[in-house]
Amino acid sequence: MSFTLDLCKFIDLPKIHDPRGNLTFIEGNQHVPFDIQRVYYLYDVPGGSERGGHAHKALHQLIIAMSGSFDVVLDDGKDKKRFHLNRSYNGLYVCPMIWRELDNFSSGSVCMVLASNRYEEGDYYRDYAEFMRARWKA
Ligand code: TYD
Repeated sequence: MSFTLDLCKFIDLPKIHDPRGNLTFIEGNQHVPFDIQRVYYLYDVPGGSERGGHAHKALHQLIIAMSGSFDVVLDDGKDKKRFHLNRSYNGLYVCPMIWRELDNFSSGSVCMVLASNRYEEGDYYRDYAEFMRARWKA
């Protein structure tokens, strides 16, 4: 299977409306197309910061703006697209082999990421040229 930008899409998550406050839930392999092995989040992000700047060899992820907003720029080596995330009931699915950059964080924003595997440095491409070489080989 070749992992390209067109596979990366917003996923509408279930939302239980309630006058006491809304509730959203996410089940692995049900609302996201992978088993959830890890959750991490970015917070206290200073204005003007940029995060990401890497790709993953095999990791599937769902990125959610739990609070505030930010942008995610995805690049499959051929096409590039900017997504604006600002809803906690909407997640951006990112398949493997996609270079990602996160920027434009609003103050107080929280970026939560659900991931298909535990942290493994060997799963990263941190060098864009190396990522591009791997993409064109695939
Ligand atoms: P990194 O993935 O480069 O962050 P970002 O993409 O948000 O800029 O991770 C930053 C540091 O945190 C790096 O040293 C690896 C470490 N880290 C873990 O130890 N476990 C994790 O689950 C993640 C995502 C990062």
